[in-house]
Amino acid sequence: MSFDTPINRVGTHCKKWDSMEPLYGLSPDDSLAMWVADMEFRPPSVVQAALERMTDHGVYGYFGDDSAYLAAIRWWMATRHGWSVDPDWIFTTHGLVNGTALCVDAFTKPGDGVILMTPVYHAFAHIIKAAGREVVECPLLLQDGVAKLDIEGWEARLTGREKMLILCSPHNPGGRVWTMAELRTVADFCVRHDLILLSDEIHHDLVFPSQHHTVMANAAADIINRLVMMTATTKTFNIAGAHIGNVIVADPGLRKQFSNRINAMGISPNSFGMHMATAAYSRKGAAWVDELMQYLEGNRRVFDAGLALIPGVRSTPLQATYLAWVDFTGTGMTEAEVVERVEKGARIATNHGGSFGSGGEGFLRFNIACRRAQVVEAVERLTKAFADLQ
Ligand SMILES: Cc1ncc(COP(=O)(O)O)c(C=O)c1O
Repeated sequence: MSFDTPINRVGTHCKKWDSMEPLYGLSPDDSLAMWVADMEFRPPSVVQAALERMTDHGVYGYFGDDSAYLAAIRWWMATRHGWSVDPDWIFTTHGLVNGTALCVDAFTKPGDGVILMTPVYHAFAHIIKAAGREVVECPLLLQDGVAKLDIEGWEARLTGREKMLILCSPHNPGGRVWTMAELRTVADFCVRHDLILLSDEIHHDLVFPSQHHTVMANAAADIINRLVMMTATTKTFNIAGAHIGNVIVADPGLRKQFSNRINAMGISPNSFGMHMATAAYSRKGAAWVDELMQYLEGNRRVFDAGLALIPGVRSTPLQATYLAWVDFTGTGMTEAEVVERVEKGARIATNHGGSFGSGGEGFLRFNIACRRAQVVEAVERLTKAFADLQ
């Protein structure tokens, strides 16, 4: 498989390219879609083969017998993350936005506070607000462009109504891989304030070769009575349309609470997602992810090096994820001025920093999981759009 193979997704009902014109006013004919977090790559052939077996058989009834799916998760977490997962702890949801919504519903009540370490994945705040809970923003500190915890600052913001903290590990946006010490600090903070810790680890396979991710369940095995883990195959293997994810709950009391919500909502698995995810968590899938990360490392280097030549612009050094987080604050322009240049000038659709909460203003998020040639093209367009700063 070559990650350089051109793939035209226009007209396939994909959000990234087919919703770009209505939302940004940018035509796919001359613009680059670098916003939605999915990749311009086909998944490994082992996933495609699993789908072909289904379509060859041609009967699409209810899914049953998830033992192979559970065994695949168990194998993946043990071999890739050194984490021993009991199949009884695993719930299958329709992705992790769905998983987050179910957890907010199961473990908090209307009016409760839910802590977000901002800037962070925008769907969290949408869910919390729509569910009638309160978003409590605990901003990250930026030190030399690297996101850091600010426990003292956070303590001062708490009202006592907080019931849950959502950790994004690795962090989106910015791609921080939290260290063992940082994970422990977050866990201790949750103990001190009696919070459920929801650890969204959807990006935990997309870690660059020089980095090491620790799953929260290993960093803080002692807080299993307040820890809920979320993992998925979808970001890793570019199968987000399959809408499948795992909520993993080791504590029997929390598990009961969660299974009550799942049952009350009538949630059961989508067979396409189950087959694809089972195939992905395999030796062949693992080899593909290793190749993917090598390729993304090349993209990251090209993108960062190109942007470093534009005065006042800096791409945060990614430790994980393919979501480059670019700081334009050094240009002295407002976010609106930067957006104008990037969208009208360079004709690139990105995610705007302010939508990720406090601390995101003045940044844009660029998805660099595309052909290297597109990364080069994006750098050229941005260089031109900010040429007057040279
Ligand atoms: C941290 C995080 N959680 C969840 C999701 C979305 O999960 P899903 O597609 O499974 O709903 C994303 C997508 O970018 C994400 O970055």
